[in-house]
Amino acid sequence: MVEAVDNSLMELLEKEIIEILDARTSPKTLYDYMRYHLGWMDENLKPIDLYRGKRFRPILCLLVYYSLSGVYDKALPAAAAIELIHNFSLIHDDIEDRDEERRHRPTVWKIWGDAQAINAGDGMHVLANLAALRLRDMIVTDSKVLEILGILNETVMVLCEGQYLDISFETRRDVTSAEYLDMIYRKTAALIESAVISGAILATEDKAVIEDFRIFGRDLGMAFQIRDDIIGTWCDTESTGKPQGSDIENKKKTLPVIYTFENCSQDERSKLDEIYDKAALSRADVDYVIRLMDSKSAYDYAVKTAASYEKNALAALKRINLASEAEEKILALTDFLIKRDY
Ligand code: IPE
Ligand code: IPE
Ligand code: MG
Ligand code: MG
Repeated sequence: MVEAVDNSLMELLEKEIIEILDARTSPKTLYDYMRYHLGWMDENLKPIDLYRGKRFRPILCLLVYYSLSGVYDKALPAAAAIELIHNFSLIHDDIEDRDEERRHRPTVWKIWGDAQAINAGDGMHVLANLAALRLRDMIVTDSKVLEILGILNETVMVLCEGQYLDISFETRRDVTSAEYLDMIYRKTAALIESAVISGAILATEDKAVIEDFRIFGRDLGMAFQIRDDIIGTWCDTESTGKPQGSDIENKKKTLPVIYTFENCSQDERSKLDEIYDKAALSRADVDYVIRLMDSKSAYDYAVKTAASYEKNALAALKRINLASEAEEKILALTDFLIKRDY
């Protein structure tokens, strides 16, 4: 689990999500597929404590709420909702990307088939909204509950738009950096932005503070996805728990790939076209693309681009002028997210 986060905070979040699932009793197996994905059950649906993912989106929501209010509890339902949205999107994303491994384990569709994985993902999406409705038990005004529900639903729609664009780029070779940045904002950064602003909106009416938190969350989200592109290509399965090179195999237009397309010679472009014309890429094809990316310093370019988003995010956070203890907690998590190799 993420070292930058207190265990007790993680446990508080875990308890909130467990309660939401445990409120549903039948058919138990449907909810057990969700428990498997969330890291609480093994493939035989026996309870076990497995790697659950970073859980950083809800933790960010809680830390932002804490930084403005001094307590965590009122933001818990929103935090749980955000983690459920994230996880439903991963269950569906693995079907879409045909990825067989996540968090060092077979994906839900790989074990129980596409149809039941779609059901588990759909169900988890609805549970996210039900989780957010628990804000009503927290002496949060109805209008704030509605505002948070509105934000979450808008965000899921934007995330679907991003997933649509991501898949539609697989069959294109002329995707520009600007199109890529718009796509990753939608598929990834929008949810991270919403995690941060939900925490802020629940704690304050100050529009300027909420706006700076919005920028912080958005640009942290951009840097996070670019980092994801980097580790998907250059870090091994042992650290990521996902198949290495699968983005290239799936013809994904990640930032290093786009940069390489934009900066190659005519000969290199012909070879790339030959590779991307194939229905399925071989290991040698993937290796060629990685070697070409390395020769163009695509890694350095992606690292530099992520760093510029991180800088902008941190400048927005500084502007808020939080008490140093709360700011340090947020900074420790941010630093981990940018440097991570999983
Ligand atoms: C993976 O997100 C999907 C992206 C948006 C890149 P995470 O890297 O946060 O996944 P987990 O929850 O820690 O497994
Ligand atoms: C992440 O998509 C975004 C969502 C799941 C919405 P990716 O396909 O890039 O993420 P990984 O690499 O499978 O985690
Ligand atoms: Mg995907
Ligand atoms: Mg994927």
